[in-house]
Amino acid sequence: MKILGIETSCDETAAAVVEDGVSILSNQIASQVEIHARYGGIVPEVASRQHILAIIPILKQAMAEAKVTWSDLDGIAVTIGPGLAGSLLVGVNAAKAIALAHGLPITGVNHLEGHIYANWLVEHSSDSAPIFPLVCLIVSGGHSDLVLMKGHSNYVVLGRTRDDASGEAFDKAARILGLGYPGGPAIERAARSGTASIQLPRAWLKGTYDFSFSGVKTALLRLVEEGKVSSKVDAAASFQEAVVDVLVSKTVAVAKECRVKQILLAGGVAANKVLHQRLVKNSPIPVLVPKPVLCTDNAAMIAACGYYRFQAGKIDSLDLDVVPGLKLV
Ligand code: KG4
Ligand code: ZN
Repeated sequence: MKILGIETSCDETAAAVVEDGVSILSNQIASQVEIHARYGGIVPEVASRQHILAIIPILKQAMAEAKVTWSDLDGIAVTIGPGLAGSLLVGVNAAKAIALAHGLPITGVNHLEGHIYANWLVEHSSDSAPIFPLVCLIVSGGHSDLVLMKGHSNYVVLGRTRDDASGEAFDKAARILGLGYPGGPAIERAARSGTASIQLPRAWLKGTYDFSFSGVKTALLRLVEEGKVSSKVDAAASFQEAVVDVLVSKTVAVAKECRVKQILLAGGVAANKVLHQRLVKNSPIPVLVPKPVLCTDNAAMIAACGYYRFQAGKIDSLDLDVVPGLKLV
């Protein structure tokens, strides 16, 4: 079964063709990061206009790279939310036009579910597939969620952020330190030449699996404002350490409590090597993480998730709409 995936929820215009929910035949991404970097963050109006410009070329490239024609496809999977309304509309309308023109079934995918399903994408036959029950830590620009999965499309949210998402915290910390945008990769790069020598607070929120990252960000801001940060790279390393410490401790604890067989990492922050390595080191339970290009926004993960939706008979009609505030459950 060959599925065309389309993703335009934020600032990446992406299209991909995936076979049977696991094999990537193509994975094309047009990033707007350089355009938004000028403003230090995403400008929604600019993002939707860029999607309009990029969507047709990206679709053509994805089809060409996969060496398929429309008649080779079995369905279309498109992100309907959460995300920016104007950005989502571009992908959803492109998907509907293709579905109508070629008589293909369409399924609307939750972007967060897509991030989780990046873990099902394999490049080598030796790559291991996720095993249920599992716990997934979804860490992106807008979310920090701990989710229990007992089967496909079966989610129980065990913890979530109460304020800033972890990716958002990385972006804000990078801005405070003048390291540029997007902040996550900038902090990780700077941290490599620093040591985590600055004490920053951790919000443990004992008795829950929720997260809070606004305190650590504010503590960093105070230190910078008071002129107490003499080394940006040490500050970056200390901030990364504080965030990773909480994410890893809570994930390992919840995975042990739920007696799961695996831990999955998903979302843009999962591209962070320190987070991955620390989780592997501290967890007695096997850890899976997609390769970095599949952690950040892409359409292969949407096609992978769409495959399981089609398998479950979840076909949407052509009045499918965007849901900017869509929740996982
Ligand atoms: O999943 P994603 O690409 O988009 C959303 O769905 O939000 O995640 C983007 C977030 C940004 O906040 C970015 O700074 C963060 O992921 N990120 C990272 C790294 N790469 C991307 N955070 C920490 N370390 C990284 N290497
Ligand atoms: Zn995302």
